[in-house]
Amino acid sequence: MAEEISGLRRDYQLAQLKEDEMLTDPIEQFQIWLKQVIDWGIKDPTAMTVATVSPDGQPSQRIVLLKQVDERGFVFYTNYESRKAQELSINNKISLHFPWHFAERQVKVCGVAQKVSTAESLKYFSSRPEESQLAAWASSQSRPIDSRSMLMAQFARMKEKFKNGQIPLPDFWGGYRVVPHEIEFWQGGSHRLHDRLVYQKNEQNQWLMSRLMP
Ligand SMILES: Cc1cc2nc3c(=O)[nH]c(=O)nc-3n(C[C@H](O)[C@H](O)[C@H](O)COP(=O)(O)O)c2cc1C
Repeated sequence: MAEEISGLRRDYQLAQLKEDEMLTDPIEQFQIWLKQVIDWGIKDPTAMTVATVSPDGQPSQRIVLLKQVDERGFVFYTNYESRKAQELSINNKISLHFPWHFAERQVKVCGVAQKVSTAESLKYFSSRPEESQLAAWASSQSRPIDSRSMLMAQFARMKEKFKNGQIPLPDFWGGYRVVPHEIEFWQGGSHRLHDRLVYQKNEQNQWLMSRLMP
């Protein structure tokens, strides 16, 4: 097995990144790449890895779905009492990673996470399928539970509880906006000579781009 996996590799030849072909605003550049990935037709094109750090310095990661991206930042939704939320409440430094390796690309974002407004969370929550809304109520995300049947019973209880009218937004559920200060665009290159263009915000709030060695 070890030998089998050590031999797994491929050369990256799809494209090159050139400074003068990149937009000055990395969010606009990201939106172009995201659209290309969506048009590619792969599953979960908006899936991104979110990294947070515990008070004792232990990093932890999980996948969530990107739900909005504009000049203000990158938004995802989750349980405000989950492990990630507890870690963010103490240290709101966060990193996102988009693993678009089928396109020989990845994007890394570093920034800080801020809760979105309740109105914003409510708008998104109400747009979700009813079952997903009930699941948000039923799950104390990241906490242990004795069995799947207990989870299903909790789901059934919520279904009964909210059978009449709109399902309210749980106060323990909502969005985070990741306000970026660094965004790196990576494109695989032949012979491992990859392109890495990183945008960093300076003190005047301007984005400056530089190239990193692969
Ligand atoms: C493709 C995919 C999409 C997911 N999307 C979300 C999401 O948008 N929000 C969320 O809270 N969890 C999502 N999850 C589950 C998370 O990966 C994770 O298990 C959960 O948020 C609990 O993480 P935590 O215990 O580290 O806080 C998704 C998982 C996968 C594989």
